[in-house]
Amino acid sequence: MSDRIRVWVLPDKAGSHTWVFFDGPTASTAPPTTRTLLLLMKAAVSTSYGPPQVVRLQEVDKPTAGDDELLIKVRATTVNRTDCGYRGGTPLLIRLFSGLRRPKATMLGTEFAGEVEAVGAEVTSHRPGDRVCGYCEGTFGAHAEYMTIRANRLIARIPGDSSFEEAAPSTEGSHYALGMLRRAGIQEGDEVLIYGATGAIGSAAVQIAKSLGAHVTAVCGTAHVALVEGLGADRVVDYQTTDFTKDEQKYNLVLDAVGKSSFRRCRRLLKPRGIYTSSDVGLFWHGPMLALITPLFRGRKLIFVVPRDDPEAIRYLVGLIESGEFKPVIDRRYPLDQIVEAYQYVETGQKVGNVVITV
Ligand SMILES: NC(=O)c1ccc[n+]([C@@H]2O[C@H](COP(=O)([O-])OP(=O)(O)OC[C@H]3O[C@@H](n4cnc5c(N)ncnc54)[C@H](OP(=O)(O)O)[C@@H]3O)[C@@H](O)[C@H]2O)c1
Repeated sequence: MSDRIRVWVLPDKAGSHTWVFFDGPTASTAPPTTRTLLLLMKAAVSTSYGPPQVVRLQEVDKPTAGDDELLIKVRATTVNRTDCGYRGGTPLLIRLFSGLRRPKATMLGTEFAGEVEAVGAEVTSHRPGDRVCGYCEGTFGAHAEYMTIRANRLIARIPGDSSFEEAAPSTEGSHYALGMLRRAGIQEGDEVLIYGATGAIGSAAVQIAKSLGAHVTAVCGTAHVALVEGLGADRVVDYQTTDFTKDEQKYNLVLDAVGKSSFRRCRRLLKPRGIYTSSDVGLFWHGPMLALITPLFRGRKLIFVVPRDDPEAIRYLVGLIESGEFKPVIDRRYPLDQIVEAYQYVETGQKVGNVVITV
């Protein structure tokens, strides 16, 4: 525990002790008069936008569950591209929601896996001890030893034989992938090309598309061909030796999971009513703009997907883990106190699947 912390020990009526912790600089000089039990926890905190170094490990107040909330002891979380976007405040438009000059949310972390430690008075869906995982973009807070979340949010029970580290990376990349595949209406027998099949979104998209019965062509670099074959892709194209945009096959969907292609380059790959989608807005936000224009013409179109905040989607994804149809790919693991290094690695753009933080 930090040496900035003052500890008051108050005897109670029975003669045992209640421990009251106060942060040094803000503590009152007089002993506390109430028996409020305030505990501290470790958390990764960033109070300004910027590079990974703006994130610092600090002792902060442990949260308590509101009436409709769960208090979760976080056992594993991830650093992903969503965290990077909110931490850096990029693209700039994100700041309309996340805070214009400085971030509203100072503790990031969108994916979590852990144990329910306490439930609010109104919660009947969960009990202390439940093993849960989920997604909390918007409220954040998973980069900490404890977090709270409303019980009706994006939470699912961890399947019996999955560890916290396996469950933590099950919701970010995968909910983007699921959102895109669902919006494109992918069904059994469809031809799907997934570009960037080794990223968090791409590696999930390959597995989810297979679970929907699609025939999947996956595009990745030479070093990862075997990995992507192992995810179930029917055909793998190495973009370092082959220009996938010259492929003769025609697709119902081209899903760019790393935002490195364009509708213009991929259009010829599409069947007459085929769909192109990308995880990135593209240069000058041309993705969302073309998504408004191309559907006006009957034929090949671009869709831009912002996944809905949908608890059912999270339960569906965890169901795929349980049935063995989806296994999140884990690249590196870091302890919480090396979260800056984790951010630096994720921002190389070369992670394979997901980067897990153990708490
Ligand atoms: N809120 C946000 O801002 C947000 C949130 C989520 C996603 N996104 C966008 O979605 C994209 C994907 O996110 P992610 O987390 O899935 O990505 P990621 O995990 O960081 O993707 C890394 C993978 O991309 C592959 N890759 C890199 N350059 C490539 C290229 N030129 N062609 C094909 N593959 C390439 C690399 O594999 P190889 O070694 O095989 O090349 C690497 O394994 C991000 O680029 C980001 O723009 C944005």
